[in-house]
Amino acid sequence: MSEGAGAGAGSDFDEAVAPENPPVRRLAAWDAAELEGLADEYDTPLYVMDLGRVRENCQRLREAFPAADVRYAAKAHAGRAVLETVREAGLGIECASAGEVERAFAAGAHGSAVQYTAVNPPGGDLDHVVDRWRDAPDLTVTVGARDTVDRLRDRGFDGRLCVRVNPGVGAGHHEKVTTGGHAKFGVPYSEAESVVADARDDFDVVGIHAHAGSGISGDDLSAHREVVRRMGDLARAVGEFVDLEFVDVGGGFGVPYREDEPPLDLAAVAEATREALGDVDAQLAIEPGRYVVADAGVLLATVNTVKHAEEYETVVGIDAGMTTLLRPAMYDAYHAIRNLSTEDEDESAIPVTVAGPICETSDVLCEHRPLARPSRGDRLAVGNAGAYGYEMASTYNSRPRPAEVVLEPEPRLARRRETIADLTELDV
Ligand code: LLP
Repeated sequence: MSEGAGAGAGSDFDEAVAPENPPVRRLAAWDAAELEGLADEYDTPLYVMDLGRVRENCQRLREAFPAADVRYAAKAHAGRAVLETVREAGLGIECASAGEVERAFAAGAHGSAVQYTAVNPPGGDLDHVVDRWRDAPDLTVTVGARDTVDRLRDRGFDGRLCVRVNPGVGAGHHEKVTTGGHAKFGVPYSEAESVVADARDDFDVVGIHAHAGSGISGDDLSAHREVVRRMGDLARAVGEFVDLEFVDVGGGFGVPYREDEPPLDLAAVAEATREALGDVDAQLAIEPGRYVVADAGVLLATVNTVKHAEEYETVVGIDAGMTTLLRPAMYDAYHAIRNLSTEDEDESAIPVTVAGPICETSDVLCEHRPLARPSRGDRLAVGNAGAYGYEMASTYNSRPRPAEVVLEPEPRLARRRETIADLTELDV
């Protein structure tokens, strides 16, 4: 685990500039009594999503990129209440699968707001999306390989097509989320122009797309600039022979997972994006996922075991782990953790390992982290769990997936807790 500043670390930036819509919502800002009440009522592990915060995040994006088409990457959180909220806030929805396309429509999205990004798409996904397109001819399909173009043609699709390009440059908080430059994604930059040229007779080529990875951070915008610059060049080149509607430069807008990390300066990112794109005869499009939902969600858990040992750090065993929130196990990701059940959060803190109920060494949410003296029955909150939390949950170890409550602001159950009966149901 890579660990840094502990809970409650100070910061030297001003988050109160826009008190009604601050650039980040820290774990400390959540109301402990309210969260404890939710844990009592709905049991744990429990995801809590504040839809008001989702709305604020959408609003800040739209204000920073007023001329852009902002499309929410549904893979960060595809729950219906969230999709409805982003749709109502005027964002489009970028979908990674037929399932996400279906959920976007179920949340009331119009075809014109739906963009399906096909990554090595299984035939069933293409069948499904092409069927959907017959009723919603405004939806857009983004292709990242010539094969996908052929397979769409074979299915009679002649609608709105966007070509995903491998920008040759990547960025990410971890190598596993660095996309641009990885051979898996997009047609090679050097072939992009010819793929567009070949597609224009059979399809309505409306856009070009690139996604560098999940790593746009304040300290280093250089990879982002370079990707956008290349996309600007490509847009000018293909603009000679197709009427592009948009240039989509992907998502990857970072959020501060650590308490002492400053929030992303969206205005600076927007300025850098406009500058790097240059003059293009097409609309800019962006696809933020995590930025929209990360700090709108927390994961609640209950302490079931506290194990002190002379030779080891104290282990705090909880009912949530890698099957509930995979990011620490998969990316060594840092998530702030707070004990909601103690008054003196800073004073009684001891270094702990917080571990889940899964029989895997990597089932650990943090190590060497100060946590207010935990005891059995305490409720813990894990911050920034709104993005890639529930979506990456699994039933490994036959552990049913958690429930989710949304705050509107009144709480309501948005996804019911899975049961052991749900698990055995699939056996035939
Ligand atoms: N657009 C495309 C084409 C993408 O592939 C992704 C993310 C996004 C937009 C949104 O990226 P975001 O703004 O959320 O960073 N599970 C990992 C993240 C994987 C992202 C994959 N693609 C995590 O938990 O960090």
